[in-house]
Formats: sequence, structure tokens, C-alpha cells
Amino acid sequence: MNHFLDINKTDPAELRKIIDTARSMKEARNGYLRGKHDDDLPLKDHIVALIFEKPSTRTRVSFDVGVRQMGGQTMVLSGKEMQLGHGETIADTARVLSRYVDLIMIRTFEEQTLLELAEYADVPVINGLTDRTHPCQIMADILTFEEHRGPIAGKKVVWSGDGNNVFASFAHAAGQFGFDLTFTGPESLDPEMEFVTQARAKGSNVVIERDPVKAMQGADLVVTDTWVSMHDPQSARERRHNQLRGYQVNDELMSHAKPDALFMHCLPAHRDEEATSAVMDGPHSVIFDEAENRLHAQKAVMRWCLGV
Ligand code: CP
Repeated sequence: MNHFLDINKTDPAELRKIIDTARSMKEARNGYLRGKHDDDLPLKDHIVALIFEKPSTRTRVSFDVGVRQMGGQTMVLSGKEMQLGHGETIADTARVLSRYVDLIMIRTFEEQTLLELAEYADVPVINGLTDRTHPCQIMADILTFEEHRGPIAGKKVVWSGDGNNVFASFAHAAGQFGFDLTFTGPESLDPEMEFVTQARAKGSNVVIERDPVKAMQGADLVVTDTWVSMHDPQSARERRHNQLRGYQVNDELMSHAKPDALFMHCLPAHRDEEATSAVMDGPHSVIFDEAENRLHAQKAVMRWCLGV
């Protein structure tokens, strides 16, 4: 049984297998996004619980569609409506759900909730985002980069903005897939150093550069995210905007990256805050390929978890 909890907890060879499976499953659909089941229905007779303690559009819909395309069934559960939101322990929830379903995906706040669920579940658990990391997103991003530009190993990824949970999974991926990563943002919003040191220990050149223009030199991929994440207090909004304004990804900033650099944003975006609409809808942008690839990458993650 394989849990998919974080990119740094999965062996690089297994991660490569997941990306390759995603790519071949996507190709096998021959361009069909909707109205078609996969030929071999690997999740036939499987039921997947999708638990959301936070809002979601992409994660919710892409997991649900992915399971159905593979012949399985889903149960979308809101944390608040479950006894989990009314005092039942994670451990008991894990033990009970394991008697009903074949796989659990959870989007939650604390990383500890995810870890405890995995510890007590007898079925695989997938991290659909915590306050600390977002591994499914970055698997989709790796797939997207490689579809457009070939192997990501040895490339330079620049993250501009808040050192948040999505950045953390990029740092995990830098170590596992062998690319270099530059963070540019204000010191007060630096990522946790643990993510940086882990990636460096695996040979990735991780750089922290306060000057966004310098950071962009030689960038193959530029990434940003919302300035106020779901778990940040709304009272921090004005302060964060003031701190991050200089890190907005706009045409001028993109002009300092390589001419063929890609632009990614995991979405949802606040257009014309962290990135301008000109960049989001411009020639460098692959944001909707990223969104689509959540579907393909997660289908491969689920197959890997279940060994089917
Ligand atoms: N990128 C992402 O996880 O989107 P949702 O919050 O809509 O699931």
C-alpha cells in the first residue's frame, strides 16, 4: 500500500513512473477530455473518499472526474458534515473509512491531520493540500513543463512571491527531479528553511534572491501564487500586498527570464495582483494546461497508490 503524502516521501524512480503513467494515460485518451472512459478501467469496483476541509474547484473536480474515467466511484465529503468536524478523532475516522472505501484523498489544514489519517488508515491516503504542502499540484506542474519543454532536470525554476505550501512542494520536487530553484520574495515571507535545506542536500541549487529582476536571469519556468493563501488571516491582506507588490509577475519581469520561459500559476488567481492578465493570458502561460494536468497526474497517483 502506497500513501502519497509528499513528493520528498516518494522515491524519485516512483515519481518518474507516475509522471510517465500520467503522460501515457493522457495520450491514450487521444485528446478526449470528457465523455470517455479509459479503456482498461483500472479503478473498476473501487470507491474513493474525497474529504474537503477547505474550498476547492480543481482538486475536487479533477479527482472526481479522474476516478470516474477509470471506472471507480467517488464520495465527496465535507469535513464539517462529518463527525470529524464535531470531535471524532482522525484515528477513528481513518479506521472507520478503511472499512468502507479503497482510497482516501484529503484536503485539510494541519499536516498532522494528514499524517495521522495515513498512520491509522488501512487504505492509501493522498495529500490534496495542507497548510504545508501541495504535492498533487506540483506533479501536474512537472507533467506540464515536460510536455512543453522536455525533461525538467537541470532547468531553472523561479518562484516569485510568498514562500507558501505550493513553493514547499516545488522545493521537494527540485530535490527529487533534479532542477534548480530560486525563491524571490520579501524576507518576512521566506519559505521554511527545512524545505530549502532538504532540496540542497539532494543536490538542487536553491537560491534566495531578494531582487526579482536578478532572480529571473536564465529562468526556464516562472511561477507565482496568490499573495494571501486559504490558511492566512484576511487581516494580513494589506500588509502582504505592500510586501509583495514588487514581486508581481508582469511583462516587464518576464522579459528578464529566458525568451522561451514558461509561466505557471496553480490557480485560483487574483488577476492583476500576483500576476497580470497580460502574463496569465500571454504567450508564456500554460496555466490551463496545468489545471488540466491535475486530472492526468492524479489519475496516475491513484493507480500508483492502489497498485492497479
Ligand atoms: N490549485 C488548486 O489546488 O486549486 P483548488 O483550490 O481549486 O483545488
